[in-house]
Amino acid sequence: MRKNIVAGNWKMNNDLAATKTLISELIEIEKTSNAEVIIAPTFVNLLEASKLLKESSIKVAAQNMHFAENGAYTGEISARMLKGVGINTVILGHSERREYFNEDDSLLKQKVDKAMDDDLQVIFCFGEKWEDRSADNHFNVVERQINNALFHLEDENWKSIVLAYEPVWAIGTGQTASPEQAQDMHAFIRGLVEKQYNSSIAENVSILYGGSVKPDNAQEIFGKKDVDGGLIGGAALNAEPFMKIVNAF
Ligand code: PGA
Repeated sequence: MRKNIVAGNWKMNNDLAATKTLISELIEIEKTSNAEVIIAPTFVNLLEASKLLKESSIKVAAQNMHFAENGAYTGEISARMLKGVGINTVILGHSERREYFNEDDSLLKQKVDKAMDDDLQVIFCFGEKWEDRSADNHFNVVERQINNALFHLEDENWKSIVLAYEPVWAIGTGQTASPEQAQDMHAFIRGLVEKQYNSSIAENVSILYGGSVKPDNAQEIFGKKDVDGGLIGGAALNAEPFMKIVNAF
């Protein structure tokens, strides 16, 4: 059975002190749902976060990584470095990486491959822009993104892949996809995985929705059959709303 997952993408927010505070607040709030909880602080706070959460069920993820083993890539972080500070999950392909740092499908494919080689779990993000949706091209865009970066993987790699559908027009805008729009896309994505691989892989892959998920809309979105959780930005920056979303399952 696939897992329900709620992951908080902190983006470029929270210095060390704020990271410690938010983690201690998260630990305090009771988790009543079966969802796996992941937080993704910024690189410099990953070590501290993984130490603080050692005894907790909350997992820590990185927001990005480089595709190379090591070398002359000033400012970059390798998979092995992440593993060295206790990180086993990485977010790849976030729309902000695609938009502001020119990450395209072929670069992301390299990153995914490196993560697989080094046994990292990948939360792979993709989603259409508003212009794609308004031109009724959103299914094609999503299919292309997944196909280009993931459909060369071996069957066994899929145990380490979590998909995150994030329509770009819904990220940080307060404009959420309707639960029906999310469900339609998630069912389409699961169908693509089934066509490319098989029904067991398709049934077992968790597909998260991201884009303006808040405590007051989480339950309705997570209630949809093919929505297995959320990737949360703004609402992950405070413990109470984030745990309300976690407990919406
Ligand atoms: P948001 O961000 O919840 O603030 O819309 C989601 C994301 O970027 O993953």
